[in-house]
Amino acid sequence: MTILDELRGALRRAGVNALWISDPANVRAISGFTSGKDGRVLVTTEGATLYTDARYTVQAAGESSVPQFIARPPDTYLHAAAALKGLRVGFEADHLTVALLDDLRGHWPDSTLVPLRGVVQDFRIRKSAPELHSIRAAQRIADVAFAQVRPQIQPGMTEQDIALELELALRRAGAQSAFEIIVASGPNGAKPHGVASSRVIGSDELVTVDMGAQVDGYHSDMTRTVAVGNPSAELRRLYRAVLEAEEAAVAAVRPGMRAADLDRLARDLLTGHGLGEYFAHSLGHGVGLEVHEGPGLRGTSEDVLEPGMVITIEPGVYIPGVGGVRIEDLVLVTASGHEVLSHSEKEAL
Ligand code: GLY
Ligand code: MN
Ligand code: MN
Repeated sequence: MTILDELRGALRRAGVNALWISDPANVRAISGFTSGKDGRVLVTTEGATLYTDARYTVQAAGESSVPQFIARPPDTYLHAAAALKGLRVGFEADHLTVALLDDLRGHWPDSTLVPLRGVVQDFRIRKSAPELHSIRAAQRIADVAFAQVRPQIQPGMTEQDIALELELALRRAGAQSAFEIIVASGPNGAKPHGVASSRVIGSDELVTVDMGAQVDGYHSDMTRTVAVGNPSAELRRLYRAVLEAEEAAVAAVRPGMRAADLDRLARDLLTGHGLGEYFAHSLGHGVGLEVHEGPGLRGTSEDVLEPGMVITIEPGVYIPGVGGVRIEDLVLVTASGHEVLSHSEKEAL
């Protein structure tokens, strides 16, 4: 069964006859078309159409086997309207803007627009062999880049220097950076998503590096916190607590595990060290066409791990005025348990 057949089954269950897909990652998953700038897919019970504009005629023809209609709005909407008369048409409530929804309503007066959440995302949550191949390649490149640049994480270098070296290494290896690389040194480590700044790395500090590569549209995501010189006993204590929580959570990854229980396991360990209140985010997330996608590894998640999911395990503690530690591995859920895809060395502190 193709992903389109599976999607039509999901649309039937959701009580709609068609789906207007506007989220670029979902457009790519359904059609193969990679431009995030202008691509929409209309899926009906009988067929599917990829809409893009004339800048992408050649690219779309090369990438997608879905029949294409090259136009710009309003012609795009007018073409689609003909296929949608009298139908219930789902749209991606978690992506479509209010303005674009207004446009659709204006051009499709004879259709009923129905907000849906996560319909295509549900099909992306378990990775196919080719998808896994790309994610593994992305992680391999990130591991190589990290190993190349690790010796340069020294006093006197700025955070931006390190981020630039990492980005160069990723690009030289044929990948793009998956997201803006985080290099957070000393007290900046207390900002979970602080971007690399002009701060000069000092001696006896911890430096958190969060990086990923993108290969064929698929991402990797990994964090290492490294020691420069001899960090204080308190910083070492934080590091060891986070490492313990991270390793315990990774070891517990297996099919059937509830994501919320995994988050709880790591959180309870950090709480046992008196650090629970400093673990300021969820344990992790799925990774694929987007850096952050399902499943969500947080306390409120209903998700249950299944073979083929690629997730991160990334506990951290962030203490204002002191600094922080995050350790993040990329993990594949397998039929028998898990496989850790990120291989960069961790500190022994
Ligand atoms: N780099 C973002 C994250 O780890 O989720
Ligand atoms: Mn990360
Ligand atoms: Mn992450």
